[in-house]
Amino acid sequence: MSSLQQEVERRRTFAIISHPDAGKTTLTEKLLWFGGAIQVAGEVRGRKAARHATSDWMELEKQRGISVTSSVMQFPYREHMVNLLDTPGHDDFSEDTYRTLTAVDSAVMVIDSVNGVEAQTIKLLNVCRMRDTPIITFINKLDRESRAPIELLDEIETTLGMECAPMTWPIGMGKTFRGVYSLVNDSILFFDPRAEKGTSETIQGLDNPRLDELIGYQAQELRVDIELVRGASNEFNKERYLSGKQTPVFFGSAVNNFGVQSLLDAVVDLSPPPQARNTATRAVAANEDKFAGFVFKIQANMDPKHRDRIAFLRVCSGRFERGMKIKQVATGKMLNVNNAITFMAQDRTIMDEAYSGDIIGIPNHGTIKLGDTFTENEALKFIGIPSFAPEFFRRARIKNPMKMKQLQIGLKQLSEEGAAQLFRPLLSNDLILGAVGMLQFDVVAHRLEHEYGVDMVFEPYDCYTARWLKGSDADLKAIADKYGFNVGLDSADDYVYLAPNRVNLQMAQERYPDIQFMETREIA
Ligand code: G4P
Repeated sequence: MSSLQQEVERRRTFAIISHPDAGKTTLTEKLLWFGGAIQVAGEVRGRKAARHATSDWMELEKQRGISVTSSVMQFPYREHMVNLLDTPGHDDFSEDTYRTLTAVDSAVMVIDSVNGVEAQTIKLLNVCRMRDTPIITFINKLDRESRAPIELLDEIETTLGMECAPMTWPIGMGKTFRGVYSLVNDSILFFDPRAEKGTSETIQGLDNPRLDELIGYQAQELRVDIELVRGASNEFNKERYLSGKQTPVFFGSAVNNFGVQSLLDAVVDLSPPPQARNTATRAVAANEDKFAGFVFKIQANMDPKHRDRIAFLRVCSGRFERGMKIKQVATGKMLNVNNAITFMAQDRTIMDEAYSGDIIGIPNHGTIKLGDTFTENEALKFIGIPSFAPEFFRRARIKNPMKMKQLQIGLKQLSEEGAAQLFRPLLSNDLILGAVGMLQFDVVAHRLEHEYGVDMVFEPYDCYTARWLKGSDADLKAIADKYGFNVGLDSADDYVYLAPNRVNLQMAQERYPDIQFMETREIA
């Protein structure tokens, strides 16, 4: 095997998806700790608290440098190199959260055992489904009075449409939580919140008398449970997992370190190495010699006055090394990249080399756009990096009309960065901003003021959702004539339907059955 092939094979690039408060931050921190990337617990949570303590963008701005470093966490584990990509949640939930999922090869879904499958998890899972991304499930907080495990699996199967294959099975819950039984190894890991790694002892075999000694009456209950579970649930099937049809399920308690190591082992043992990626012309295999990659996220950096940005590029093939010249396919320009950033756990360091699956950060002044493909020379265009239909809308009004030009430039650039989307209804002069998370409006207002000198107010705008329209010219003209206030153009001049409510959307769809109303749009 060539050294390139080896480097690709040992990489695992994944993200954690969850609903706020299910335990993503805690789990991230524990994974880093088990991976040896951080020495003490508390570092990641500290940053989250700092980020969370304020809804004021000014303050958030100060944290930007921090959020750049926590965007990608790379660490070696066993013989593997793991890239954990952060999916911003809570207040900073944005399209970046969705788009990051287009840059991973697998995901870990965290479910709170008390609350079950929650709204945000469903949304994020739908994004994973676009690429049939394999998902490992971690059911967290078994140290609390949880829902019955079988009920949780059932809920995952019915609401998320994936088969569950339990890999471990919990012994009790809440006050009586004693550990998990591994259905794969026929071993029992005992839970001990005081033990450094959450586990005091591991024994082999359900019939082991030590089991009765340690957990008394629960041992017999466990034996009955396992017989039922083996009869009623799916066995793990790697092929079905890799095609996104089945999810292996682990139980644990992240805050107590319990179950985390089994999860990390599963990430490296089960989840796939970097996969081939589609371009408009051909599939690019991860082990091809020549470098290629795409930009899935742009982050404004520390010094907004200089329009200083970092473009996050996912390497899709070949090897990247410091000082390499790469081609921005959209413009044909060659870029000499000698200051790319890598993300070894916590620190930003100048990167020497990167392989398929790795993420590199390229500093720039607004010249690199979301969705950009970079290659050594070939004219490729990676596809599958979409914009997502916003769920929140505001009408942007300028305080000083003389600044209209700056406003338009600013909004166009910010929408190219993916900070928010801009729509212009055909029959009005309105500038409508759409976002998938509310904080984005504050971000845009703040940045327009500080980077473009434009003072804005945002007014409510009655819109339920946006759909990109795809159809014949005649059909598009017909819908534009009929619904001129609802049909608009986005920043790429593509037609969009701005639906004031669900019923209106349904009626428009029924009236124009030949037009596709799309929830995502490929970035041009
Ligand atoms: P998030 O990133 O998904 O939003 O969740 P986060 O890790 O911040 O966890 C949310 C809350 O759940 C935190 O409590 C965290 O301590 C708690 N938690 C995480 N894992 C477990 C677990 O296995 N068992 C129990 N019982 N709780 C867990 P908090 O009160 O919001 O914060 P803190 O005061 O503990 O820091």
